[in-house]
Order: sequence, then C-alpha cells, then structure tokens
Amino acid sequence: MKVLVLGSGGREHALCWKIAKSPKVSKVYCAPGNGGIKEIAENVDISLEDMDGLLDFAIREKIDLTVVGPEGPLVMGIVNRFSEKGLKIFGVNKKAAQLEGSKVYAKEFMEKYNIPTAKYRRYTDSEKAIEELDMFNYPLVIKADGLCLGKGVVICNGKEEAIDSINQMMEDKVFGSAGETIIIEEFLEGVEASLLCFISNGKTIPMESAKDYKQIFEGDEGPNTGGVGCYSPNPLFNPELERIIEEKILKKVEIGLRGERIDYNGILFIGLMITKDGPKVLEFNVRFGDPETEVLIPRLKSDIIDIFEKTLEGSLLKEDLIWRDEKCVTVVATSKGYPGKYEKGKEIRGLKDVDEDIIIFHNGTVEKEGRLYTNGGRVISITALGDTLEEAREKIYENLNKIKFDGMYFRKDIAKID
Ligand code: AMP
Ligand code: GLY
Repeated sequence: MKVLVLGSGGREHALCWKIAKSPKVSKVYCAPGNGGIKEIAENVDISLEDMDGLLDFAIREKIDLTVVGPEGPLVMGIVNRFSEKGLKIFGVNKKAAQLEGSKVYAKEFMEKYNIPTAKYRRYTDSEKAIEELDMFNYPLVIKADGLCLGKGVVICNGKEEAIDSINQMMEDKVFGSAGETIIIEEFLEGVEASLLCFISNGKTIPMESAKDYKQIFEGDEGPNTGGVGCYSPNPLFNPELERIIEEKILKKVEIGLRGERIDYNGILFIGLMITKDGPKVLEFNVRFGDPETEVLIPRLKSDIIDIFEKTLEGSLLKEDLIWRDEKCVTVVATSKGYPGKYEKGKEIRGLKDVDEDIIIFHNGTVEKEGRLYTNGGRVISITALGDTLEEAREKIYENLNKIKFDGMYFRKDIAKID
C-alpha cells in the first residue's frame, strides 16, 4: 500500500513512523513533511492549501490511503474532494469538521444535545458584545468563531482587556473573517485534560488518556503554546471519571451526530475542563492532537492501517485498539522567542548521540545538504517509553543534554508528579 500523510509537524512524524511499521505499507509520502519525516517517508513539496495539487498527486501516484494531520484541510473539505474521486482518505468530512471550524457551531451542538460546557453568548456586533459584558463575571473568555492557528482564545481579567479583545477581533480583524463572529463565555476553573477518540460509523471509541502542558514556563506559567510536553496515561482518568465522560459526553456526542445527520468517521479530540461540577467540554478538535499523538502512538500496539481502514468502514471496535502498559512522555524543545516571534534556521546537533530507546519526533525542522536546521517554534519532541512515568522522564532529560541548537529551550518539569 502507498500512504500519503498530510502535514509537517510532530503529529505527522509520529503518524508516518507508525504507518511505516505496518506490514501492509510499501511506501509513505508526506506533504509537505519536515527534516525528520524525510528519513522515513518521501517529502512531497505540495502545500496543504493546494488541494488540486494534492488530489493530482494522489491520483498520479495511485495512493491507496491519505491520512490528514491538521484541521485546515478538513475544514476546507478535502475529505469530500478525495472521496468524490473515489480516493480513500482518513479524516472527517466538511460538515463534521465544523465542530472544530466554528466555535459557534460547536457550542450550539453542545447546547442542543445537553453536553456540559461553559455558559456563553454569541455576537456578530462589537457594540452589542461590549454592552453586554456586564452580564459576565471576570475572568471571562473571548473566542473568535473560526480557525486562528490556536490563537483565537483570550482570557480577560477585567473589562478594559475584554473591550480591547473584542475590538481587536471584530473591528481590527486581527484574525480576518475568523473573528467576525465571537463568543463570550464563562471562565471554568479546574484541571484540563485531553481525550482523543476514534469515531467509526458515529460510535465513539476513546484512546488512552493524555496530559498536555500548554504554558511555556515551568509551573504552568507564561503564555499558552500549542503544547510543549505531554504524557500518557493521565492519572486523572480513573474509572469513575471515565464513566461520567462516557455517559454525559460521549453518548451525547453520538446522539448529536445522529441528530444532525453528520457522517463521522475519523478523530474527535475533546478538550475538557474537570471542574468541581464534573467534566465540561472546552472545545472539540476533529484531528489528532499535537503533542498528544507523540505519546499515544508509541503506546499503540495495533497496526494503525487496520485501525484507519476499520474506522472508515465503520467497523472499528474498542478491542481493536491494543495499548502497551508502558507509560510514554514527550518533552518539546522550542526555539528562542516561542510562542511569540521566534528564531529559525539554527543548526541542530547531537540527535545521533541519543540512546537507542529515545524516539525523536520532529515538529519544525528542515534538512539542507545533510544538516538539520530549526524551522518552527516547536522544533523536536524527545520521547521515551518506560515502566513508570519517572523512568521515561529521566531517560528524556538525560538525553536532552546531548542535543543542542542556538536558543534551545524546554520545560524541566514535564511529567514530574509530586
Ligand atoms: P480552546 O481552543 O477553546 O481549547 O481554548 C484554548 C485554551 O484556553 C484551553 O485549552 C484553556 O486553557 C483555555 N480556555 C478555553 N475556554 C476556557 C474556559 N471557558 N474557561 C477556562 N479556560 C478556558
Ligand atoms: N495539543 C493541543 C492540540 O493539538 O490542539
């Protein structure tokens, strides 16, 4: 089988790594790929915005399965386009992708099907939004409706900040049309957790749990990032919490998908806040998480191609997902300046010196004439399995000292459980 993976981050590197291990697979392509992916797959220089180019490539190269990494192409309807041409593609269709592509759509879905989430109001007019701010307590949360590369959510501690954010999104259009509609919602207090599920023929099948670290600095300080560390499983997920999530969220998502006649075959990533009143949904994503994928994939024993194919046929069962008992940790090394404006083009050294049981997934690297350079805010994810989280994290931190690039930064408290 020939497989094409779409994307260029650590998530896609982990997917290519696992896909390449399948006995069914003879060749893996990745568009556009990165410096690390290049070692296991053939990078294809086609941008994800060029849907015609991707389609032509898949037809010309007789690709048997395309796997979509990020949300952009899903929201743009790539699955519909490929399916119309009879090409097999793993990902959700355009209608289903609205659960991530529009926060208003997601909130209305949750409201209609009684899925616990933060109270909210939607606005298409900035004056009205400002006028009604007094209906909320602080902090409050302002979200742009559309996709904003993970930057469309602002937590505001006071009225002035809230007015500024509303004006930036709706008047200055810092997120373009994505901020024409906004939602304002109550701030939820609690512990965040991610739950990724396969959905096959509308049935949710949860993966193992994971814990993502969003803030750039130790002790969860500083600005939010795309995720700078992760581990699996997440000890927060005890059988009681799992039962509540199943009953109050997953079952209702299934009812909602049927109610809205959404054909859903792919991934649903649920961002949760575990509050004192139980778990509430912060957001839906319709794709694998990054860096969640970097810790889930190494724990997955089953052949991932079987899983993708069964999901698409609508026949995937919980029993098809077989997981290793070992724990997995990843620490993301980032470029100087991230998550703000960051440096690029710094040579990365020492990757070949790490121990054999360390897995390195590349988030943002490029290879030029045999040398590897930084090419993103998140650069590489150093990953290890271990019988305990402590064992995995120790292996990672010992090996991180061998890797160097100018301005390299990483948190030292990933998977540190006190
Ligand atoms: P989202 O893209 O909706 O997940 O928001 C990004 C991040 O903002 C989340 O991971 C949370 O850390 C935070 N966040 C979003 N909504 C809320 C909320 N209602 N209450 C507290 N924090 C939130
Ligand atoms: N790690 C969060 C995300 O992938 O959206």
